Amino acid sequence: MKRIGMLTSGGDCQSLNATMRGIGKALFNYYGNEIQIIGFIDGYKGLMHNEYKELTSRDFSGILDEGGTILGTSRQPFKMMRVIEDGFDKVAAMKRTYKHHNLDCLCVLGGNGSQKTANLLREEGLNVIGLPKTIDNDLFGTDMTFGFQTAVNIATEAIDCIHTTAASHGRVFIIEVMGHAAGNLTLHAGIAGGADIILIPEIPYDIKAVAKAVERRAAEGKNFTIIAMAEGAMSKEDASLKKKELEKKRSSMPASYELGDEITKLTGQEVRITVPGHTQRGGRPCPYDRVLSTRLGAAAAQFVIREKYGVLVGIHNDKIVPVPLQDVAGKLKLVDPESEIVAQTRMIGISFGDK
Ligand code: F6P
Repeated sequence: MKRIGMLTSGGDCQSLNATMRGIGKALFNYYGNEIQIIGFIDGYKGLMHNEYKELTSRDFSGILDEGGTILGTSRQPFKMMRVIEDGFDKVAAMKRTYKHHNLDCLCVLGGNGSQKTANLLREEGLNVIGLPKTIDNDLFGTDMTFGFQTAVNIATEAIDCIHTTAASHGRVFIIEVMGHAAGNLTLHAGIAGGADIILIPEIPYDIKAVAKAVERRAAEGKNFTIIAMAEGAMSKEDASLKKKELEKKRSSMPASYELGDEITKLTGQEVRITVPGHTQRGGRPCPYDRVLSTRLGAAAAQFVIREKYGVLVGIHNDKIVPVPLQDVAGKLKLVDPESEIVAQTRMIGISFGDK
């Protein structure tokens, strides 16, 4: 009897259920009655406190297009809390649960922080397989994460809607797109939505250059400007602040609102801010994500069958690749300011607000 654990960790996204379905269906197809799948509730919390439900093949039916996660999720456990808290050793607790269920392997569907914890568990001797989840597409070792394309669709739709009202009123609109550290989502939605200015954390902006881009459009007779701005985008001055100083500043004033005020001061134009927020993580996965999730899930099952552990199931040039978790842990895949996509975006006249 094979015994596999499964959990979803970190911020949710649209294709978590589709991915678990891929793993579950492939495993039940291969092992028949000789497999038991334990789903831990609310991410690593469930693993720590042994809260779980046994998943049957029926649990994996009818969830391909369902957003959210049938297992629940929570932020990964070491971000805000210490590893040992009030005498409770979290790593020891997770190992205990793993041993208690006599698991052959644990499948972790998660982003950066969650894969870092997965690697920690690997170092502690557990068999772990990671699956790349995040709307930010900032996970190192894979070209694509599930959730990203759906979020791009939603953020693009938001920019499309803003376009018509911005044009009617002749306003500047800032659409704040998710992504604190990485600008992948903003860059893609900004291009797809036809934004005039794209601001991302990887390319700090100069407020004067942003104002100039707005005024250039006005001089060309275009009465509105669309700015796609990542929540983590920052000015050149803010980029030189210490992390704590910037966090303090941001807690009282989000970057988009500060930028809006500055644009009005410099250009006299009326500015509105739109924050699609968590709509970008909600609802049904798009067909692209359903296909990607199915492939990643089936590939994870293949790794279970071959006992290939300690890896993230990545995709590179449309081929599934096992990426060692130690190569993934603690690294981010950010937008390269020198990349082709950035150069091509500049070529059609979209400003990154830096010059
Ligand atoms: O990591 C995914 C993400 O949606 C980021 O883009 C965003 O900055 C963050 O999570 C929001 O986190 P929370 O749901 O905890 O507010």
